[in-house]
Amino acid sequence: MDFLPIFLEVAGKRIVVDGGNTVAARRVERALNAGAFVTVFDPEPGDEVRAFFEHENLTHIARLPYDADFAECIIAYGASEVPERDALLHRAAKAAGALVNVADEKTYCDFITPSVVEREPITIAISTGGAAPVIARILRARMEAMLPAAYGRLALFLARFRGRIYEAVPNGRNRRRFWENLIEGPVGDAFLAGEEALAEERLEEDLARGSADLKHGEVWLVGAGPGDPDLLTFKALRMMQHADVVLYDRLVGDGIIDLVRRDAERIYVGKKPREHTLTQREITELMIERASRGERVLRLKGGDPFIFGRGGEELEDVAAHGIPVEVVPGITAAAGCGAAAGIPLTHRDHAQSCVFITAHGAGGVLDHDWTRYARKGQTVLVYMGLNALGEVAQKALSQGVDPDMPVAVIDNGTRLDQRVIIGRLDEIEAKVVEADLPGPALIVIGHVVSLYGKLGVKGSRSEYEMELKAGHTL
Ligand SMILES: C[S@@+](CC[C@H](N)C(=O)[O-])C[C@H]1O[C@@H](n2cnc3c(N)ncnc32)[C@H](O)[C@@H]1O
Repeated sequence: MDFLPIFLEVAGKRIVVDGGNTVAARRVERALNAGAFVTVFDPEPGDEVRAFFEHENLTHIARLPYDADFAECIIAYGASEVPERDALLHRAAKAAGALVNVADEKTYCDFITPSVVEREPITIAISTGGAAPVIARILRARMEAMLPAAYGRLALFLARFRGRIYEAVPNGRNRRRFWENLIEGPVGDAFLAGEEALAEERLEEDLARGSADLKHGEVWLVGAGPGDPDLLTFKALRMMQHADVVLYDRLVGDGIIDLVRRDAERIYVGKKPREHTLTQREITELMIERASRGERVLRLKGGDPFIFGRGGEELEDVAAHGIPVEVVPGITAAAGCGAAAGIPLTHRDHAQSCVFITAHGAGGVLDHDWTRYARKGQTVLVYMGLNALGEVAQKALSQGVDPDMPVAVIDNGTRLDQRVIIGRLDEIEAKVVEADLPGPALIVIGHVVSLYGKLGVKGSRSEYEMELKAGHTL
């Protein structure tokens, strides 16, 4: 981030705007709304600026500004679109110690102006750091549509109880929870439904209970999906915004961790094969210890926590300590990779069942009965199989599985660097070794793989064509 986001108090302070066009009008409007005294310099301002002439805090001077006009000015906006005027304003305003912003002239800017969503007294400012202002404007439009106008009134309503809430819940962390429960619970619901009296009644009940309900910690076991942040569930996102501490795995991508509440403590507990930051026991002990302190502990796992995620094992110990737990499912790698690569896991003509298996168990590569799995009409989804692919394929072949059986290896499925390797069972290992995939990767074995590239799913076509060029038909 190249800019420091702050909200500046300008009420009663002086702001100069040089220009009389639409841009100047927007600057004038914001400055007046924030309570500043605004002086506009322009010989012939347009109607949009003139519309503010009646405002008691606005002074219009029908000429260009002189150096002395910037005395005691806190901000100077250049909006004339005349380069010589902009240069003069920048020099004079800087000499007077003002912060300067000149429209479309980066070198003359001490700050940039964000896109703003207003729900008085709530203000949301959005910036792309100057990289793509149109994105900020699109996001602003989305937020405008998303946020009920009543949110502003809710903020004003709750502000009346601020002091009493402070007294009723003195502990800072508990107080944050208290506020969250108010806003997202029955009080907020009643208020946003237009029932202010009911909201107040419920709020009084909550105040009477104070911190009584807030002292207990919890563990939330949440699936983060296969990597694309857009595949998080709403519930996962909400819990990420409310947790006190987040323990996350290697498979949880940076883009997802960035969505965790900024003040929450983040603890990386990831495991690579043969490289453990914390042992499984230490992770569980940490969750128990933090929840016992009254914290809301979010255990964030790649994919779904109950599918090869050891979620069940972790919760057994947590539950034995009487700590309340909640589980939020995530999109498992098989579902995510299948969708992203355009390979359905079932299909009326190719597979009427699918099985999820892991190549690895506690003692190494598992000795699966492949005649049960890789059979006609069934898709096999192999987790944790990349490094054992050769062994997996050999075992399947030695048990009589058809060497022509189509196989897909989907690496970093759903992510920007997703790659898909397609081959027959008897050649797939060599192709994957050649491709030097970093993992994580999911192996799909079965006739559904022959649909790869044929369903018009974006992201799968080019690899499919490469396969065809290489002479492979499945
Ligand atoms: C320990 S398991 C965790 C599975 C996870 N709980 C789930 O439901 O997806 C790790 C394995 O999941 C698979 N996996 C997870 N994310 C993946 C991704 N983005 N692309 C491909 N495979 C992935 C790989 O097979 C990896 O070895």
